[in-house]
Amino acid sequence: MIVFYTLVSLFICFYRPISTLSCYDCASTFPGNNVCLPECSQTTQLNSTCLLTRDIPLDDDYSGSVRAAHINSEPFIFDAVDKYFIFGEEAVYQNPSVAVNWDWEYGPITYGCDTPGCNNPQYVNSLPNALKARIPNETLDRLLTGTLDSSCYVCDECLDEDVSTTDMSSCQPTLCPQHTCNFVATRSSTTGPAQCDGGWHFTSGCILSNEPAQVQMSIMYYIRSKTNVIYQLEATCHSDNCNNFTTFRQLKNAVTVDPDLTCLTSITTTTSSSTSSVSISSTTSSSTSSSSTATGSTSTTTRTSSSGGGSTSTSTTTSAPSSAKQVLINVKFIILTFLSLYIIKF
Ligand SMILES: *[C@@H]1O[C@H](CO)[C@@H](O)[C@H](O)[C@H]1NC(C)=O
Ligand SMILES: *[C@@H]1O[C@H](CO)[C@@H](O)[C@H](O)[C@H]1NC(C)=O
Ligand SMILES: *[C@@H]1O[C@H](CO)[C@@H](O)[C@H](O)[C@H]1NC(C)=O
Repeated sequence: MIVFYTLVSLFICFYRPISTLSCYDCASTFPGNNVCLPECSQTTQLNSTCLLTRDIPLDDDYSGSVRAAHINSEPFIFDAVDKYFIFGEEAVYQNPSVAVNWDWEYGPITYGCDTPGCNNPQYVNSLPNALKARIPNETLDRLLTGTLDSSCYVCDECLDEDVSTTDMSSCQPTLCPQHTCNFVATRSSTTGPAQCDGGWHFTSGCILSNEPAQVQMSIMYYIRSKTNVIYQLEATCHSDNCNNFTTFRQLKNAVTVDPDLTCLTSITTTTSSSTSSVSISSTTSSSTSSSSTATGSTSTTTRTSSSGGGSTSTSTTTSAPSSAKQVLINVKFIILTFLSLYIIKF
């Protein structure tokens, strides 16, 4: 009997592990790239992932921000299959200047991790600037440029994960001469607005203005498996019916990413052995004020990356890693189960 109960309680405990994670939780905004780190304390949640988001504008007229949080407050990142990742928004525009031509830009970057306190805002300069998404120039030229003198497709369709169909008969062509065709493809999810059974929600049409040819993407990069998953891909293009499924498939399949994770790797090894309650506000100013000397030119790739130096943790105390914490909770659970059985028996 006892053996049976032991097995049952073990099964319950390990089948539904109760796992808590402590993450920093705060945000700050600042002018341009004058990174200002917030006062930050940690909160604990069940079954969480810690996030650290950096959004540094290339133009000083805009404000930048740093934000640390639990994943549940970020609706745009859903269905992460691994809790250790970089999520970024990147885009390429065709510059009217032939000398610049295809110009890559990057937006906010979010780091996801799952050890206690791993999203310390102190580490913000160790995040890569960008995922460095790229699509070959030749592919961009072939799929997005040309002359648009008749029509674009108007679609609102679900597509399978691999975009295996080339049949455009479900979409109506619409006249769009001298303007721009576009499409937006969003990976569907149970939580997102588009529910296409694990595939893509594809909408497209004509934009009544002359926009530069471009591709904008949000991409999830899983650090451990070195794989990337596109969450959303939007494009505008300039030839008749260029906003078709084939264009989307070929763009999607041509995307590569190559983030520089050198500094990130160093903080990962630091956090796992350091305390989860570092007091950060006083120790970080030297590393932030000297970094990120943006050139302010139109090309984003010329922006110097921050050194990531000076951000090593000075704390020496150690705390239990999440797995140890989880086992502890499971052991408590087993003891409680036995106690209650004991009480029932007598
Ligand atoms: C915990 O999170 C994972 C995804 O990260 C999810 O699949 C699972 O259902 C969650 N479990 C609970 C109990 O919320
Ligand atoms: C693609 O074009 C950009 C600018 O238009 C240029 O800097 C880059 O070297 C080109 N890449 C290749 C592989 O030709
Ligand atoms: C799809 O668009 C590409 C250009 O991006 C074009 O070469 C091709 O003919 C189009 N296919 C259809 C079916 O319209």
